[in-house]
Amino acid sequence: MMVHSRVTELVRENKDVFTMKFDSSITAKPGQFLMIWVPGGKEIPMSLSNTSSPPSITFRTFGETTKTLSRLKIGDRVFYRGPYGNSYPEPSGKVAYVGGGTGVASLNAMILKYRGDVFVGARTRDDLFLIRDGYKIATDDGSLGFKGTVIDLFLPHLSEYDYVFVCGPEPMVKSFIDRVDRRTHSKVFFSLERLMKCGVGICDSCSINGYRVCKDGTIFSMDDVLKMTEFGVYKRSESGKMEFFTNGKR
Ligand SMILES: Cc1cc2nc3c(=O)[nH]c(=O)nc-3n(C[C@H](O)[C@H](O)[C@H](O)COP(=O)(O)OP(=O)(O)OC[C@H]3O[C@@H](n4cnc5c(N)ncnc54)[C@H](O)[C@@H]3O)c2cc1C
Ligand code: FES
Repeated sequence: MMVHSRVTELVRENKDVFTMKFDSSITAKPGQFLMIWVPGGKEIPMSLSNTSSPPSITFRTFGETTKTLSRLKIGDRVFYRGPYGNSYPEPSGKVAYVGGGTGVASLNAMILKYRGDVFVGARTRDDLFLIRDGYKIATDDGSLGFKGTVIDLFLPHLSEYDYVFVCGPEPMVKSFIDRVDRRTHSKVFFSLERLMKCGVGICDSCSINGYRVCKDGTIFSMDDVLKMTEFGVYKRSESGKMEFFTNGKR
């Protein structure tokens, strides 16, 4: 069912990333997402970057709908369905978060609740957002922190952690999977992002080897992701056609 809500706050995090709070009594767990709709746009999936009240989403302006969202004013209407998807498991012991791109938004809800060491990657310092003191930063161009990818930065420390949560663009997660020591004793979970239409397991647009990312995930264990031979290789276009990933781009 589509729920009606109103924007209560819209903060610009950097040149193209915004955090929006909206009045809602939603009950959600970190890792879950909403299907958001605004008049003039289409329905799009968005992770909750904060699941407490009032909830928030943090989004990069990308196409028509995210641009429309970024132009809303306080009091404007936002509609949503959800929350959908499973949630991150409750961690214990030493916890690490590894995020890239807008994956940082989904991890943020978890970080607010459970804390831990946070490793964040971006192309350049201007692309970073939701950064707090103590975060370990990697930039491709070396403009802030470690020069290289967040995977280069994090993987040497993997064995120090009991629980690891990873969220980012599919090529980033694929690079993690390809390079991680599969015998690790750390419990590693990935939040996956695929093109979604229904968000509830009906349309098949988000399927990877039969796993519906919207309903069976979005959070999967490393064992599950290792079984997905299409992961990081093929994706579905909006028309449902299978396409190869090209050069780390959507
Ligand atoms: C579960 C989930 C959670 C998400 N959470 C966030 C979030 O917290 N913050 C955020 O900024 N973004 C998030 N996204 C991505 C966000 O949904 C897209 O950026 C958004 O749909 C773009 O809509 P648009 O109308 O602005 O652009 P469009 O015009 O729809 O997008 C342009 C192109 O991108 C393609 N595309 C859209 N979404 C995806 C995708 N997921 N994978 C591959 N290609 C895609 C479209 O097919 C189109 O070709 C999430 C996606 C998923 C699946
Ligand atoms: S988005 Fe329709 S099955 Fe996942």
